[in-house]
Amino acid sequence: MPDTNNVTAPRLPRDMSAEESRALQPGDLHYRAYVGPPDRFDFMGATQFALLFALGLREDARLLDVGCGSLRAGRLLIPYLLPNRYFGIDPNAWLIDDAIERELGRDAVAIKQPRFAYHRDFACDVFGTQFDFIVAQSMLTHCGIDLATRLLSEMAKSLAPGGKIVFSILRQDDSAERTERCGWVYPDCVLYSDAHIADLCAAQGLHCRRLAWFHPGASWYLARHAGDPLPPEAELALLTGAVLFDPQFAASRPVT
Ligand SMILES: C[S@@+](CC[C@H](N)C(=O)[O-])C[C@H]1O[C@@H](n2cnc3c(N)ncnc32)[C@H](O)[C@@H]1O
Repeated sequence: MPDTNNVTAPRLPRDMSAEESRALQPGDLHYRAYVGPPDRFDFMGATQFALLFALGLREDARLLDVGCGSLRAGRLLIPYLLPNRYFGIDPNAWLIDDAIERELGRDAVAIKQPRFAYHRDFACDVFGTQFDFIVAQSMLTHCGIDLATRLLSEMAKSLAPGGKIVFSILRQDDSAERTERCGWVYPDCVLYSDAHIADLCAAQGLHCRRLAWFHPGASWYLARHAGDPLPPEAELALLTGAVLFDPQFAASRPVT
């Protein structure tokens, strides 16, 4: 007879601690792994916050986080912003629940009153408000052309006058064939060129600029209503996102 007293049930990934989760693969069912490499969970939240802050985010702004996932950015943005200023959309409610339970805490939710919606049709008007900032990090990277068009259209419609949209894409050369993939592609990715993104933005009344802000695997863009100015080159040059001392992000620093 086997000694069943000594048998421990295998840990489900979702129950693993933050430190244990570092051994998981991107896409695994843990709030820190599902949204990307778990050893970059902290970095990807902090760099979003730092970029938004550098682009003028202040505590009284209304911010929409499309595909907010496990609040990588939200766990920093929610305490920073005034009450009722953070809005998140993500169909995977478990990511938001686990992030509140294990990172943010219910007190922060009670005090700051973030609002969440759980639909998957990219509708950005569900909260009945317009936004000064909209961030969609690692969203267009998984959107086929139909969803990319829809997402940009929805974000443009819910962007307040003078507002800013910040998103990331995986880039391909302008000479490469434009994607014909459709739907949500995850954890696989869809590539867009600068020219293709500029055309997709223009179709929604937006203009955009690629930012030099460091991203470990993708490229950042800033988009605004066509009538709102993009920063001049001298100001864009201030947006580097460089990180000192950390060997994992040495590529963020100029080669000396
Ligand atoms: C790569 S993760 C990025 C999460 C987050 N933006 C971040 O940087 O941590 C992609 C996210 O998109 C969410 N997602 C998938 N389909 C979606 C949809 N139709 N609308 C909104 N979010 C969606 C996933 O649940 C996941 O949280």
